Amino acid sequence: AYHLDGIHMLRLMSWTYSVLRLAGLIWHPYSNNLKHNNDQECGIYTVIKTKVPVTVQEYGDRYHLTGPWNRFSAHVEVEEIEPESPAIEAAIRTITEQGIQVLYGRWLIDGAPRVVLFDIGSAAYKLDEWKGDLWRVAGIPSPPHDIETNDAIILGYLNAWLLDEVAKNDTEHAIIAQFHEWQAGIGAVLCNKRKLDVATIFTTHATLLGRYLCAGNVDFYNNLRHFNVDEEAGKRGIYHRYCIERAATHCVDVFTTVSNITAYEAEFLLKRKPDGVLPNGLNVVKFSATHEFQNLHQVAKERINHFVRGHFYGHYNFDMEKTLYFFTAGRYEYRNKGIDMYIESLARLNSRLKACNSPVTVVAFIIAPAKVNSFTVETLKGQALIKQLEGSVEDVSARIGKRIFEMAARGHEPQAEDLLTEQDRILLKRRVFALKRDSLPPIVTHNMVDDHEDPVLGQLRAVRLFNNDDDRVKVVFHPEFLNANNPVMGLDYEEFIRGTHLGVFPSWYEPWGYTPAECTVMGVPSVTTNLSGFGCFMEDNIVNPEDYGIYIVDRRLKSADESMDQLAGFMFDFCQKTRRQRINQRNRTERLSDILDWKRMGIEYMKARQCALRRCYPDAFDDADFSGENEAEDHHGKLSRPQSIPGTPRMGDDLATYDLAALSISSELPGIKDQDEDNDLRPPILLKMKSPL
Ligand code: UDP
Ligand code: G6P
Repeated sequence: AYHLDGIHMLRLMSWTYSVLRLAGLIWHPYSNNLKHNNDQECGIYTVIKTKVPVTVQEYGDRYHLTGPWNRFSAHVEVEEIEPESPAIEAAIRTITEQGIQVLYGRWLIDGAPRVVLFDIGSAAYKLDEWKGDLWRVAGIPSPPHDIETNDAIILGYLNAWLLDEVAKNDTEHAIIAQFHEWQAGIGAVLCNKRKLDVATIFTTHATLLGRYLCAGNVDFYNNLRHFNVDEEAGKRGIYHRYCIERAATHCVDVFTTVSNITAYEAEFLLKRKPDGVLPNGLNVVKFSATHEFQNLHQVAKERINHFVRGHFYGHYNFDMEKTLYFFTAGRYEYRNKGIDMYIESLARLNSRLKACNSPVTVVAFIIAPAKVNSFTVETLKGQALIKQLEGSVEDVSARIGKRIFEMAARGHEPQAEDLLTEQDRILLKRRVFALKRDSLPPIVTHNMVDDHEDPVLGQLRAVRLFNNDDDRVKVVFHPEFLNANNPVMGLDYEEFIRGTHLGVFPSWYEPWGYTPAECTVMGVPSVTTNLSGFGCFMEDNIVNPEDYGIYIVDRRLKSADESMDQLAGFMFDFCQKTRRQRINQRNRTERLSDILDWKRMGIEYMKARQCALRRCYPDAFDDADFSGENEAEDHHGKLSRPQSIPGTPRMGDDLATYDLAALSISSELPGIKDQDEDNDLRPPILLKMKSPL
């Protein structure tokens, strides 16, 4: 039987559209990476999903995504419809005639794009034939038991088949196919080998090898040019996957990635300099008045306060008004996501806050899914006790209210001692007794499968962050992503972010990093690093990111110890801020959201598509001599410092100095040592294009 576990319905996708007199399909298959089994909670999913509205706005019904048909979720995520385009309808008919099941419909998300979903299992009878073909035409091996690769091969062949059929049926429109990640790479390879009439783009959101190398103990950035890539991929058992990624890179008209740092990495690990950078955007929801998002912070914070009171019951000796919430969140890549650095810096922060007798308490959350069984009894008990207390206090208050009213109505002045009856007193005493406990508040909310081997728990023990009463930094490790139905926290991720004060993402390997970007658009300051795509993007575009609540830890030139000190310093300084200063800072952070909006970021995607068309069909353009040489302007426009520090600057003033050209790839990666002149990334052709369409 063919095994389909772990493949999400829209995990591999593509789209179609037409453009100018050339029109067509964009194929946009994607997948995720290492050790992750829930596609909906990783960056690539956010890219694909949030990019839909701007793309649909541009191409309407001509924009399609493709992917495997996951029957468990398709019925709630996709509305089946008939294809309107005769070319697509005929193509799907030809494929289904061969016994392959295809679902055509609208993906029920913002923008409602069209999707073509293939039942991978129904095409499994072709697997051996296609594997043999892949070896013959591209020299790509495929070992027998790698299910993910087998699925990627089937999907790649189905995508290429569909593209071929559509291209044959519709000779009037051009087709642009964009393939995301190695799992979608085979479609790109086949377009090239079969010389399909399709303009192609391949986008890596990370490199396979980069992610593996960084997760190990390797001085990655300083050795990039020296790695023997085939050997390293072979040692890690990913040679065949690496071959797919590298072949796709070299088979397309336009090769792109998501940040300068990953462009630099891709050049050495995949041996092709990316043609441009397509940074990730978000759909920014702007409130008409800025106080609205500030109010949301207060409301969400109250809910976190509620959780914290329950979690720390019996040891709740700190002042909520002087408590700050820090958090890190993401897939559990302990080293790549910088969770190691976060914990060590929290320990240093704890010492510093204690040493200066700070009245501030920091509750630091770690949200990273690990193997768990369930919530711990202690965690559930804490929430239950605090709920009980709350209920009892409400009842007693209501009774007191009644008594006061009765007394006053009868003309008696109520006395304090008359208000609480003996019964109420006993009830409250019982509740207070229940809140006593001998043990310390737990550092983890769930029963972990690998409690003794877990690196986060191990490090928390090593640095002795045990939630002692005198600790100024308390920790809560929540080894599961958040959702509103969760009985303990009951907040979805977005609400949680809003209620916090600082997101901390000291990543070591982070091609983009949505988590700090999401904080930014919600007006929550965050810490990132100069090894993350987002951090570099902010550094490139803002004169002093710190003024806007974007703290960038230097993990390039500093030693690990120095970086941890720097991070502890950022957090310590943040703890010194007054409420007024925090409110001002949040206002400034939120104003950055415009530069992260797909309305701007999407322009880079347009450029990439335009470039692919021009390279694929040079004769169709009047200015066929497309070197771009004369079109470039050397923009170094950066977002200036806020006019008033710490006051709130006027909306729009600063953004006026921001220049769109600065969105593109920068010419160098300062700070990475050992860089020959001929190897730095010159501004690519994309940067030099005028805004297309
Ligand atoms: N995320 C989520 N729920 C959580 C924590 C994180 O949905 O409880 C999402 C978050 O919104 C973000 C993604 O996970 O979009 C992580 O993306 P990022 O680019 O930071 O990391 P990647 O997974 O690409 O390495
Ligand atoms: C928002 C609310 C204010 C509240 C403040 C708390 O700005 O509009 O009413 O006082 O948040 O900020 P803090 O940083 O202390 O959580």
